[in-house]
Amino acid sequence: AQTLTILGIESSCDDTAAAVVRHIVGQPPEILSNEVFGQTDLHADFGGVVPEIAARAHAEKLDVMVEAALTTSGLTLSDMDAIAVTAGPGLIGGVMSGVMCAKGLAAGSGKPLIGVNHLAGHALTPRLTDQLEFPYLMLLVSGGHCQFLIAHSATKFQRLGGTIDDAPGEAFDKVAKLIGLPQPGGPSIEQAAKDGDPKSHKLPRPLLDRDGCDMSFSGLKTATLRARDALIAAQGGLHPQDQANLSASFQAAVTDVLTEKTRRALAQYLELEPKTPAIAVAGGVAANQSIRASLSDLADQHNVRFTAPPLKLCTDNAAMIAWAGLERFRLGLIDDLTLTARPRWPL
Ligand code: KG4
Ligand code: ZN
Repeated sequence: AQTLTILGIESSCDDTAAAVVRHIVGQPPEILSNEVFGQTDLHADFGGVVPEIAARAHAEKLDVMVEAALTTSGLTLSDMDAIAVTAGPGLIGGVMSGVMCAKGLAAGSGKPLIGVNHLAGHALTPRLTDQLEFPYLMLLVSGGHCQFLIAHSATKFQRLGGTIDDAPGEAFDKVAKLIGLPQPGGPSIEQAAKDGDPKSHKLPRPLLDRDGCDMSFSGLKTATLRARDALIAAQGGLHPQDQANLSASFQAAVTDVLTEKTRRALAQYLELEPKTPAIAVAGGVAANQSIRASLSDLADQHNVRFTAPPLKLCTDNAAMIAWAGLERFRLGLIDDLTLTARPRWPL
């Protein structure tokens, strides 16, 4: 078909989202609606996402978000070519809620159902926002994931390396908690870091001595904890300036690790001699301006295009799921009502 219109549904973590994306061959894709209900407030008292609370909230909000996405797009279900839904990986209760919702809509409307891998959703976003051509190098960094991929096609992703322990977003969130900043930790650390000195604390750059693209962030978190404890022991508490300095030092360390490892991933990727080489970054941590700027510099040094989606498309959303579903649909890859939710599902 020349024109495809897809409804996307996302509920794998703590955002309930629905979106409509349209693509006319030869034109840039268009996001007709992109609705997100963030659950951050619901989990605020618990210091992390509570799976049971998340699943209930998804079950309550999914139909509302689907309705909002359709209304905003000015279309109805019968205008859709297919319904795409995140079928994993993620928190099983949430993924099941989304899959059940999509199955109901598909069964009721007779529209095809497409199960999408959440990571593929993030990894294909640069094609939605910038029509990037394959193959491109992707750094996927979020609260739950951290990996380098070469995207060869909408269905083929080659993993070059990733974290051996925490994801960077998880480290941002834990460090924020340790130094008394609100969740989610990424944005609050980025904000606090603006007033801090990134050289105030000597924090490690783990695994840079080791070849390859694997990364580690848990030691960095522990080192930040020690720096915090030293300050508390010396002065009885943390001042806002201390929070700022710890934030800036931590953010600089994460930025250095990601940049240095991207340099190595880039060398592997460039061996493929891509026609229009590009580095793309996606996932919640890709919203960080220090990380974006540093990767952009690296790309400039190598004359490689750099792209990062707008912030709203870095964090979890359903437009990326609609788009990934659209790419699958074009390849003839559709599912049926036997589609199952998969808590673990590597790309
Ligand atoms: O992709 P995402 O919305 O959810 C998944 O994990 O799949 O990513 C959320 C993560 C959180 O850990 C959050 O702290 C982090 O992304 N994050 C950031 C920033 N904004 C969000 N990390 C660093 N800097 C930011 N500005
Ligand atoms: Zn995500």
